[in-house]
Amino acid sequence: MLDTYPSLTANWSYPTAIRFGPGRIKELAEAVKATGMKKPLFVTDPGLVALPIVANALAVLKEAGIEHAVFSKVDGNPTLKNLEDGLAAYRSGGHDGVIAFGGGSGMDVGKLVAFMSRQTRSVFDFEDREDWWTRADGDGIAPIVAVPTTAGTGSEVGRGAVVTDPADHTKKIIFHPKMLPQVVIADPELTVGLPANITAWTGMDALSHSLESWCSPFFHPLGEGIALEAMRLVKEWLPPAVEDGRNINARAFMLAASSMGAVAFQKGLGAMHAMSHPCSALRGTHHGLTNAVVMPYVLRRNLSAAEERLAALARYLDLPGQSAESVIDWVLALRRRIGIPDTLKDIGVDLDAIAEAAPMAEHDPSNGGNPVPLTAEDYKGLYRKAIAGDL
Ligand SMILES: NC(=O)c1ccc[n+]([C@@H]2O[C@H](COP(=O)([O-])OP(=O)(O)OC[C@H]3O[C@@H](n4cnc5c(N)ncnc54)[C@H](O)[C@@H]3O)[C@@H](O)[C@H]2O)c1
Ligand SMILES: [Fe+2]
Repeated sequence: MLDTYPSLTANWSYPTAIRFGPGRIKELAEAVKATGMKKPLFVTDPGLVALPIVANALAVLKEAGIEHAVFSKVDGNPTLKNLEDGLAAYRSGGHDGVIAFGGGSGMDVGKLVAFMSRQTRSVFDFEDREDWWTRADGDGIAPIVAVPTTAGTGSEVGRGAVVTDPADHTKKIIFHPKMLPQVVIADPELTVGLPANITAWTGMDALSHSLESWCSPFFHPLGEGIALEAMRLVKEWLPPAVEDGRNINARAFMLAASSMGAVAFQKGLGAMHAMSHPCSALRGTHHGLTNAVVMPYVLRRNLSAAEERLAALARYLDLPGQSAESVIDWVLALRRRIGIPDTLKDIGVDLDAIAEAAPMAEHDPSNGGNPVPLTAEDYKGLYRKAIAGDL
């Protein structure tokens, strides 16, 4: 067994300062002080705000005498309105930094509030296209402490955040290097109460980050090394994390795999994310679940360009057959085992969504990282297959 260590507690220094280990939420006040913040805004979502993990984290701040306020008007698939409300709370409360606490939704809104706190342009002027990020005033970005409570997006170690633009109903990735949180507390105990279905969905998001990054055509050996090992961790530990949420080893390795996926996808994403973003924007589907549903269809579509890479992955994962096909078989078996449905139709995406979704997928920045160039026409075909279950 490779995954045997004397302790699952460690401090890591890349891509940022990460305090990893069970129980380390106790260090939240220290982490806040390390960034120089005096009055953080604690950003989370309405589901989490009612849970003891939030009460415990706030108690740590209180005990250390750190003045703070809580903002939790955050939707799954966060909107511009969530960001505007968060900014209003930040400004009226006189805050000087953000604790971004949650799954991808809470963390992304928290990161965006810190990023936008002193910008003068619209958030969508900083979309992750070309060098648009250079339009931002880098000195106007407030410090961020990130605390993930799901193991999937890896947003705690990412330099981007996703928000839906009401003007065209698209999910847009906003990017700035300084949106990377200064300190991360990665405490697997916080993920113990995550229900089995969300554990499965978010875990598949982590897998899709590494898988798409591994298959994307760009030169980034650092990202590739991290992606491979993250996928091995998902293979070992996602099923036990779904089957017994209290398995702290499984929770810890999935939390690590999630951060690794986000580091890896600096290399590029691909058609899974390009297809998934329009579904979430148009039909409100969960991000990781949608990636998981489209995953095998995209892998098959990409076979001509990614066959060798997928075969190498199969060898690393020690899959029977050790071929590209073995990876598809593994994904299908994993999905079945953790309760992911087979088709987009099963999660509420019907044929009538395709006309709008396909051009959105083509224009999604993730499309540029797919190993096979895909047009809106290609995406129409892929959506049809994923809706009908025609693999
Ligand atoms: N910034 C990035 O790099 C990046 C990458 C991928 C996805 N995303 C974005 O992240 C969002 C999805 O994030 P997510 O998949 O983590 O889901 P989420 O943040 O929307 O959370 C899903 C649900 O789980 C609940 N929850 C979270 N932690 C819990 C816990 N420990 N115990 C019990 N319930 C808990 C939440 O209250 C919520 O109801 C999407 O908007 C997606 O676009 C961002
Ligand atoms: Fe994702």
